[in-house]
Amino acid sequence: MKIAVISDIHANKDAFDRVMEDIKMFNPDKIFCLGDLILAGYNPNYICEKIFELKEKFGENFEIIQGNTDKMVSNCSEELLENAKKAFPCMGYSLEQDVKITDKKYLDFVKELPEKKTLEINGIKIELVHGSPRNQSENIFPELLNDTVEEMVKDSNADLILCGHTHIPCGYSLNSGKMVINVGSTGRSMTQDKKAVYLQLTIDSQGKIFSEHRSIDYDNEKVSKHILSRNFKHCEELASMYIA
Ligand SMILES: [Fe+2]
Repeated sequence: MKIAVISDIHANKDAFDRVMEDIKMFNPDKIFCLGDLILAGYNPNYICEKIFELKEKFGENFEIIQGNTDKMVSNCSEELLENAKKAFPCMGYSLEQDVKITDKKYLDFVKELPEKKTLEINGIKIELVHGSPRNQSENIFPELLNDTVEEMVKDSNADLILCGHTHIPCGYSLNSGKMVINVGSTGRSMTQDKKAVYLQLTIDSQGKIFSEHRSIDYDNEKVSKHILSRNFKHCEELASMYIA
């Protein structure tokens, strides 16, 4: 069983299109998407349209959950906006515009997504989460102590936990036998090279797990310019995050 796992697309059409070309060559049986479709990119409606197409094409073999920023965009209030502008100005001002430019049907779609899902493939119990099993916004970063990660996933009874959120890929094989893989970010990767990242996962008929993070080239300069052209306050700070 071959599965492509994507996360944190963040309305980056260019990165998403390149990743989908690579996924096409992988020819997966299933696609999982771990949330954060919209906030702080340049083409939220295009990404949601493509997600709807994947849902249609893959049917029950497509799984999607909600990310923390999907929740922010689809439940945005004046208070949330003001707090976001104070805490992380470029994200707050982007959020203000994202709410206005995203079609209502897509806002409604991400609002209703579940925060997590569990499923079983070839005897392997899998949990899909955005941050961690206990918190949609918790960071499973690289180079944490194994005991720290063990604590974060202690309430999950899955064999394999797939997460995103930090925009940095990593993986852990824990003493409890659980495996945790952060799939990285397709649309706003925080790796040094800023390439788009996703996970190719294979689970054979014996339940053996093989995984590979793929780093995909895209036109970061072009995307950075798209962000600048949105012309909201502090957009230059956001635009600079795409450049290695
Ligand atoms: Fe994200």
